[in-house]
Amino acid sequence: MNDELEDFVRDLQDRIDEDVLQTYGRAAYARWREPRFVGSMDAPDGRGRVTGTCGDTMEIFLRFRNGRVEAATFMTDGCGSSIICGSFAAELARGKTPEELIDVTGERLLDCIGGLPEAERHCAFLAAAALREALEDCMKQAHETRTF
Ligand code: FES
Repeated sequence: MNDELEDFVRDLQDRIDEDVLQTYGRAAYARWREPRFVGSMDAPDGRGRVTGTCGDTMEIFLRFRNGRVEAATFMTDGCGSSIICGSFAAELARGKTPEELIDVTGERLLDCIGGLPEAERHCAFLAAAALREALEDCMKQAHETRTF
């Protein structure tokens, strides 16, 4: 890449970064740059997979140990906001009991993120729905095997 093109790309990236920072705030920006807890999980205790009305899918995996979430990860084919929301949902799930997981709602995720533009608020509710489904899957599996 020649210097002129490198400068152009760097300038464009800086403008995109600034735009995202201004629109989404610092917490969301940081998570967008470096999403945490991304990926699937082998033999999870629970798995939730939900497709939103936007057509995007969020999947959340949970593993419990001693009655608390030991590990939580997510995958999505959705927008940047869905990555942010899945990442925060996985983070908030960690260390929680099944009862406490119920409090991880879309509104709670939006509070942690610092809000999202109106058109993308549903991404938080999609992540919360996938988390709820993962919890229900855990409870179902535990009921079937009586090991929870
Ligand atoms: Fe579909 Fe964000 S999850 S637009």
